[in-house]
Amino acid sequence: MIVLGIETSCDETGIALYHTKYGLLSHTLYSQTEIHNEYGGVVPELASRDHIRRVIPLIKQALKEANICLKEVNAIAYTQGPGLAGALLVGACIGSALSFALEIPILNIHHLEGHLLSPLLSTPSPTFPFVALLVSGGHTQLIKVNGIGEYILLGETVDDAAGEAFDKTAKLLGLDYPGGRALAELAEQGQSGRFKLPRPMRYSGDFNFSFSGLKTAVSTLIKNHHITQQTGADIALAFQEAVIDILAEKSLSALMQNGLSQLVIAGGVGANIQLRKRLVRETTNIGATVFFPEFEFCTDNGAMIAFAGAMRLQQQEINYQHSMSCFTVRA
Ligand code: KG4
Ligand code: ZN
Repeated sequence: MIVLGIETSCDETGIALYHTKYGLLSHTLYSQTEIHNEYGGVVPELASRDHIRRVIPLIKQALKEANICLKEVNAIAYTQGPGLAGALLVGACIGSALSFALEIPILNIHHLEGHLLSPLLSTPSPTFPFVALLVSGGHTQLIKVNGIGEYILLGETVDDAAGEAFDKTAKLLGLDYPGGRALAELAEQGQSGRFKLPRPMRYSGDFNFSFSGLKTAVSTLIKNHHITQQTGADIALAFQEAVIDILAEKSLSALMQNGLSQLVIAGGVGANIQLRKRLVRETTNIGATVFFPEFEFCTDNGAMIAFAGAMRLQQQEINYQHSMSCFTVRA
């Protein structure tokens, strides 16, 4: 079976073809970052209009790269939400039109399930059960994953998501949107120990997170210092160290409390090199293993949607809507 995946939830148009036997056949992506850069954030109207322009050429390109024709596609999977309404509608419309014209099934995929399952596209891949840390621009959640559609929420952020905190802090430091990656790069030049930031909810005794206070602490630091390149880098490093400390500590304790030995990281912040290094080191120390998606599948993409669609097709959508209730819709 070949599934065509369509992702249009925010500012990336992602298309992919996934074969249930041979794996990922092709994937294409167009990022609108440059369009939104000058506004310091995503402009929903511009995002929707650009998805309309990109979606068909990207589908054609994906088919060409996979060396198949449209009639060979057996099912359509598109991102149903959460995301920007106008942007999501583009994917829903093109997906429904293709499903209607080709007379094939259509699967509405939860964006977060796509992220959650994206590490399973890599080899070696984790086996169920595992603990997943979902760290994106809109979400920060720890989830116990017992199987496809069997998700138990262990904890989540009570305010900002980790990626959102990276982006807002980057903006305070004068970096372009989305600032997570730029902030991580700036932090590479920072001196550790010059600034000490709080670790919110470190000892809360649960698996919840809070990042908005950290952003406020950075804002206070910036007000009280003359921001040279080096000071900016030192602040970026202090911020990144605080976020990584909290994410790593809570993930490890979720793993141990649940008696599991596989940790899966998903979502855009999973591209952070220092977070990866820290988790590799700490899971190894306790005899556990950490799995990450390929860098290109950390942020939004069509491959994770095609893959989630293929898994659901094989599971025949059992209890699907019910099993998605663990993902809190915040955007
Ligand atoms: O998963 P994603 O593409 O979007 C959502 O579904 O929200 O994640 C995007 C987030 C942004 O906040 C971005 O700044 C952050 O991931 N991000 C990073 C890095 N690369 C992307 N954060 C920290 N370090 C990075 N290297
Ligand atoms: Zn996403």
